[in-house]
Amino acid sequence: MWQRIIALSLSSWLLQPPIALHIRRVSTVSVINWFVSSLKLHGTNLKTLKQAHCSMIITGLNRDNLIVAKFVEACSNAGDLKYAYSVFTHQPLPNTYLCNTMIRALSLVDEPNANSTAVLVYRKFWALCSKPDTFTFPFVLKIVVRLCDVLFGRQVHGQTVVFGFDSSVHVVTGLIQMYSSCGGLGDARKVFDEMRVRDVTVWNALLAGYGKVGEMDEAMGLLEMMPCWVRNAVSWTCVISGYAKSGRASEALEVFQRMLMENVEPDEVTLLAALSACADLGSLELGERICNYVDQRGMKRAVSLNNAVIDMYAKSGNITKALEEFESFNERNVVTWTTIITGLATHGLGVQALEMFNRMVKAGGKPNNVTFIAILSACSHVGLVDLGKCLFSSMRSKYGIHPNIEHYGCLIDLLGRAGKLREAEKIIRSMPFEANAAIWGSLLAASNVHHDLELGERALNQLIKIEPNNSGNYMLLANLYSDLGRWDESRMVRKMMKGTGVKKMAGESSIEVENRVYRFIYGDVSHPRVEKIHEFLQEMDLQIQSNEI
Ligand SMILES: *[C@@H]1O[C@H](CO)[C@@H](O)[C@H](O)[C@H]1NC(C)=O
Ligand SMILES: *[C@@H]1O[C@H](CO)[C@@H](O)[C@H](O)[C@H]1NC(C)=O
Ligand SMILES: *[C@@H]1O[C@H](CO)[C@@H](O)[C@H](O)[C@H]1NC(C)=O
Ligand SMILES: *[C@@H]1O[C@H](CO)[C@@H](O)[C@H](O)[C@H]1NC(C)=O
Repeated sequence: MWQRIIALSLSSWLLQPPIALHIRRVSTVSVINWFVSSLKLHGTNLKTLKQAHCSMIITGLNRDNLIVAKFVEACSNAGDLKYAYSVFTHQPLPNTYLCNTMIRALSLVDEPNANSTAVLVYRKFWALCSKPDTFTFPFVLKIVVRLCDVLFGRQVHGQTVVFGFDSSVHVVTGLIQMYSSCGGLGDARKVFDEMRVRDVTVWNALLAGYGKVGEMDEAMGLLEMMPCWVRNAVSWTCVISGYAKSGRASEALEVFQRMLMENVEPDEVTLLAALSACADLGSLELGERICNYVDQRGMKRAVSLNNAVIDMYAKSGNITKALEEFESFNERNVVTWTTIITGLATHGLGVQALEMFNRMVKAGGKPNNVTFIAILSACSHVGLVDLGKCLFSSMRSKYGIHPNIEHYGCLIDLLGRAGKLREAEKIIRSMPFEANAAIWGSLLAASNVHHDLELGERALNQLIKIEPNNSGNYMLLANLYSDLGRWDESRMVRKMMKGTGVKKMAGESSIEVENRVYRFIYGDVSHPRVEKIHEFLQEMDLQIQSNEI
């Protein structure tokens, strides 16, 4: 052994003279330790790694799988996995440890062929090495997640059973994570239910899986099932953001408040989800409390959190406060700009939105597809047809963004409102996609405003094809007829609506009282105190009438 070391110490790569003095006493373990620390010291670029490889060949250390594994790790740390892989493939008798190291290294990099190479190494495992061990599967399962290939995942699952590793906690955790994130939730649940000892990672993996696909009732049930000493911030957050993403904002906030009551500290992701739920509900009071919470805790407001705060204020109706927050924060990304521009535009402040857009462009911000939706609708509100058309064509020419159907919708709305109905219709016919209900609907509304019966009828015919059950469409046309004094036709359309069994859509509204959001739906009598409510309403009605008299 010591001859090898001397040879190594003579190679240009080795720069540690004291090693030579200790050579007589070294054992294999210390050779490896020494090799690893030398790699750490020198192996930061391809050149020194190549030198190391050279000396490995000269000294014969390249036959040692452990040494090669360390070398592979060093290459992977230095970001040159190709070299590592070529060394790996020349290894005559790789063992399990080396193969695991190779798969693990491949599972960590972000290179185009890494996934398939890792699968190749795994598939050749039996030919190349003796046998996979417990450490193999967690890495392979990570690759499966990256490929999102549930069929391959099932194969790997089967192999864990064959080799008897299906009771190892790491393997089972990997299996649940794999099934949860690759859309095999049923399988994930099966594996989960068979587990005897479950740690928080496993629970959270399954919760995240349910949250991702929006199976929120399952997720909530699982959260309730979870022992409270196991539940952590991540568990709560999975459920809260799951609810928020599936549009069930009031449930998201209920769970959020429960989380606070149980003294679990929310992290940034939780607060983002809670703020977006507040924004969806227009729940200003609770949103403000969350902002105060962030400030009181002295939590650092990352850009994403600040964007959520601006969005919350804008959507809950306080655009002044949204602007204040926007100005008080120096770090702005495209989302920040887009959020404030969208906020201004939806508050009908079209001129301010366009000014903000100019500020953004001057500040070097690059607008994205969402920004354009906001400014096109701002133009539409203000009636700046030419500017809107100019901005629309600049999307492609200046920013390389291909307008999608929503952008065309904005443009058609802009033209329609300005009374340029023929031009709008021409654009619909020349669009690269089929027009949707929103587009025909805005054309119908525009023809209603500008009393263009012919176009209104055409638009309605298209609309009836797309959404036969929407009463609003029939009503628009009926109104158009009656506006023009054509009562018979107006009556006809209303009759047609009844004949097709179209029901009027229920109106809906919500109100926030003491941090709870109550939702009202037209004709809904499911509230337990509905009679009391109606009594009170009648009383109010009477009072209003008597006051008026
Ligand atoms: C392979 O892995 C990369 C990460 O390096 C991932 O982004 C990509 O989606 C994966 N490729 C396939 C085909 O799944
Ligand atoms: C909106 O924000 C402004 C500025 O902070 C504040 O003065 C005002 O009271 C807020 N309005 C509402 C309705 O909360
Ligand atoms: C913007 O583009 C992204 C991806 O390019 C897409 O996911 C998103 O839906 C688009 N949004 C709008 C409003 O067009
Ligand atoms: C319209 O409503 C009828 C019954 O109300 C239903 O059977 C049909 O699927 C609906 N059509 C569409 C396109 O929603």
